[in-house]
Formats: sequence, structure tokens, C-alpha cells
Amino acid sequence: MLVVKGRVFFKGRLEAAAVGIADGKVVAVKKVLRGEETSDFGDSLILPGCVDAHVHLRDPGLTRKEDFPSGTRSAALGGVSTVADMPNTVPPVTTRVAFEEKAAALRGRAAVDYALYAAPRSGSAVPRMPDAIGFKVYMAESTGDLQIDEEAMEDVLEAAGDADRLVVVHAEDARRFTRPARGGLEGHHMARPKESEVSAIQALGKMSRGARVHVAHVTCTEALDAVPAGVTKEATPHHLLLDFRRDLKAFGKVNPPLRSPEDRGALWRAYVEGRVDLVASDHAPHAIEEKQERFPEAPSGLPGVATSFPLLLRRVKAGDLALERLVETIAEGPARVLGIEKGTIAVGRDADLVVVDPRDVRRVTAKRVRYACGWTPFEGMEACFPEAVLLRGEPVVEDGEPAAEGLGRMITAAKS
Ligand code: NCD
Ligand code: ZN
Ligand code: ZN
Repeated sequence: MLVVKGRVFFKGRLEAAAVGIADGKVVAVKKVLRGEETSDFGDSLILPGCVDAHVHLRDPGLTRKEDFPSGTRSAALGGVSTVADMPNTVPPVTTRVAFEEKAAALRGRAAVDYALYAAPRSGSAVPRMPDAIGFKVYMAESTGDLQIDEEAMEDVLEAAGDADRLVVVHAEDARRFTRPARGGLEGHHMARPKESEVSAIQALGKMSRGARVHVAHVTCTEALDAVPAGVTKEATPHHLLLDFRRDLKAFGKVNPPLRSPEDRGALWRAYVEGRVDLVASDHAPHAIEEKQERFPEAPSGLPGVATSFPLLLRRVKAGDLALERLVETIAEGPARVLGIEKGTIAVGRDADLVVVDPRDVRRVTAKRVRYACGWTPFEGMEACFPEAVLLRGEPVVEDGEPAAEGLGRMITAAKS
């Protein structure tokens, strides 16, 4: 048995304890434990490995922007031990064949565990993809051109409802898009306004009978208010921490857009009050050259898989956010929504652990996060990066640097 000691987040609170690990699982959490090997992390926190339910790792097909080895290495550096990868890769994951080919090509190449989404074009494809963690539906155009019309969407929702599967929705209504006079990030916000999110979520409310539905990247409290009961909600660190006043140019261009400082503040308060089920990065890297194109031509999407947990833990240290809320939204909540047995330190669970000292405050830099795309919109912001990350008991980060790679396995939803 391996024993890891520190201040362990167990049963909803921190206590000085030891976690016993055997065969990749947590086998005991006790005040004192004796094992063959002990790692004592002193007063550092030992938290459940984070689960990022929304990443675009660009593999296969767009690996100049990112690939599975690079994206999952960055994930680990940010305390993420499980990612769920979106289907707008090339070719897109719209069929069983595309799903199986993607899964086969990724085997043995991930530093952390991973799950894969699919994007069925109709309900008939839903039962054909039993290993997909969920189904992504784009209600409006975004990177990858995977949007479907309302009829196809109702069909997918019905099939997913019948099979008790998860549907994740990118909710924007293109009929509410405008052609603003202004350019730049504020113009992008006006072009794809808050009303377009609210309208799409309202339409979704009329369609979603029975399916497990999750609304991705909610940017404002008006959108949160529109989400029907029983539907889960996600916020991203960029909508919680950045707004269109930042001088990011097209490096801040994302769908749905960064909003005003007031919107950001209101979303932050809603998050702190527990109105958001999970935080996901929507890690969507694009090349520096693409982001340097003229604003209207530059693609939408920002990288973030390595910075969600470190940036938010810094807010905990600053007193703006409760640690319980952070763990709930960055580990437990996403695992619950995805239906996977991750995100909690408990006997019998995978020993996916993050070790971090919140007093060790550093600045986010492109170098530290190691994305293949070579940039981060959070450059220079303060963050608390993990000192170690264990995946099923194996160190994937040690002394803040990448350690073992290729150990990640594909996971599927626990069958009920
Ligand atoms: C995403 C991408 O680039 O893959 N872009 C984005 O602006 N969020 C696609 C998406 O999820 O909309
Ligand atoms: Zn999206
Ligand atoms: Zn996305």
C-alpha cells in the first residue's frame, strides 16, 4: 500500500489524514496509516482530481493546435485527471465508425483519463454509440459547423431520453444575432448577444422532455434564470474572470462571447451562491497566426484546461470563494453530470488526487501551461498550480512538472 499524507478533503471538509492506495484505488482514509511507501505532503491540500467536462483537444485532424498527448499533459499540470473531449475534431464524431476510429487512435496517448462525446445528426445514431459519454448539440454555428436544426435536435433529445443518456447543448439562437456597428470584443458580444443565449435556452426548455440535459458555457445570470428545472448548468473560468474590456483582441474571441464587467460580476456571484453545477474550461485552442488575423476572420475559442483549477484556487485563497464550492464544481459536479465514478476521495474510488499548496502563488504563463498552441488568455494572472497529481495512484505530475505519460484510459458512463 502507498500512503499519501496531507490535509485531505474527505466527506466535505479538510482534515489532517493519510490516504491509503492499492491497485490504483483508495483503500483507506485514516488519521494514521502505515504502508510500504509514504509521501508526506505536510500542510498541503489533497483534493480529488479535477474533472473537465468540456475540452476540445483537436485530435484527430487539427493537431497543429493541440493533440491528445499535449492537451492531457497540460490538463495534468492544472490538476485535471479526467477530461471529456468534444466531437468537433476532423473528421467529426457523428457516426459509430468515426467514434470507434477516434477511440482506437487515442489509445495509450493520454496522460490523464478521458471520455469522448459524439455529435449525432439524428436520434437513430444515439443507440449506436454506447461508449460516448454524451451527445453534443450545437444550436448555432461555432467552430466545426456541427449545428443541427430544431427537428433533428428534438429527435436526438428523444432518443437520448429513451436511453437515459446525457445531451450537452451549445445554446445560442442565430435568429437573435446582430451586425453591430462596433468591432472587437465588445462588438462580438453585441453580435452574439445575451438574448440569443436566453432564447436558445427557452427553446430548449420546450423540447427537453425526459433527457438528461446540460447547458454548456452559460455567460450571464439572464441565461442561468432561463434554464429549466432539472437541466444542469456550466460556467467557464473565462466568463467568470474575463470580460470584453480586457485588451485581448481576437485572443479573447470565443463563443458565446465574453460579456461586460457587470455581467461577469453577476455571474461570479451566482457561481459563489451555488447556482452553477460545474465549471469546465471549454479548452478550445487555436494557432497564434489564426488569432492574429483580422478580428472578423479570427476563429472563436480559448485554451484553458490547465488554468481553471489554479485560477479558482487562488480566488479561494483570496477569500472570494469557498473551497467546498470549488471542489463541488470542479470535481464532484462534473463527475455526477457525466455519470462517472470520479471526482471524490472515497474508499473504493480511483486514487486520482491533486496535491497543492495554496500559499505557492505563481503567475500563469504560456510556458508553464505548455499548450501546443503556445498562448493563454490568462497570461500574468495569479494562480496556485499543483505540486503533484496522481492518476490511479501513479504520479502524472511531480514537483509541478509532467511525470508519467500515456497512462490515461478511456472511461465510459457507469451503466445503471
Ligand atoms: C469551440 C472550438 O473552437 O472548438 N469554440 C468556442 O468558441 N467555444 C467550439 C464551441 O464549443 O463552440
Ligand atoms: Zn460551445
Ligand atoms: Zn466548446
